[in-house]
Amino acid sequence: MPPAIRFDVLTLFPGIFEGFLSESVLKGALATQKIEVRLHNMRDWAEDKHATMDDRPFGGGPGMLLKVDRVVPCVEEIQRQHQSGRLLMLTPQGRCFNQVFAEELATEQQIILLCGRYEGFDERVAEILKPEEVSIGDYILNGGEVAAMVMIETVMRLVPEVLGDENSNRLDSFSTGNRILDCAHYTRPREYRGIAVPEILLSGNHAEIARWREENSLQRTKEKRPDLLKSVSNDSTLRSFAVENK
Ligand code: ADE
Repeated sequence: MPPAIRFDVLTLFPGIFEGFLSESVLKGALATQKIEVRLHNMRDWAEDKHATMDDRPFGGGPGMLLKVDRVVPCVEEIQRQHQSGRLLMLTPQGRCFNQVFAEELATEQQIILLCGRYEGFDERVAEILKPEEVSIGDYILNGGEVAAMVMIETVMRLVPEVLGDENSNRLDSFSTGNRILDCAHYTRPREYRGIAVPEILLSGNHAEIARWREENSLQRTKEKRPDLLKSVSNDSTLRSFAVENK
């Protein structure tokens, strides 16, 4: 079976991904070919011996920009290897990445992640390639690599069979239809420093445990992320909870 999803990452610093790809769940998913991650060093497309990828901005100003004539050919070469595939450019100006966006991407077969560096890309990169611009949050990173890792990790968890228990991502907070936080979880010992595990979780009564978990989730959301309850629209339990706790 071919991998369910292939990520092509275009970066000037492929070494950043080494530890990330060689540990834990990602290591396993790559080894069993459930997913594939190909790293491409954009510097390999530079023609001069210094492998110059950046240049000063016209009109002055701080920092350097990634050159259009270096970036465009390497993206186009990767695109030629596939009929379809989504081209995503990592930039703080992009659409904000979240769990629902990740669910959408998990249905793709190929995702190209274009990582910026320095002050960003020459504007013509976006004009020519028309990528979807994506940000992982309203803060500025040194480049797109950490953002690409966040996206790979979030999307790969949604590929069937990647996680051991195939249900274990269905109930994750923030997924479609789930705008509340996960409930509290406990394991042994039953008591630690005077703090006991809630009695109900030891009762074996699955209906009661399910009820406790739902209530605990709602309570935690109210305490930690009340903003999430404001966006509740369809779910009647959540709607009444949100109204009661306004
Ligand atoms: N590059 C720099 N900052 C970024 C961010 N917040 N999201 C995506 N790419 C970035």
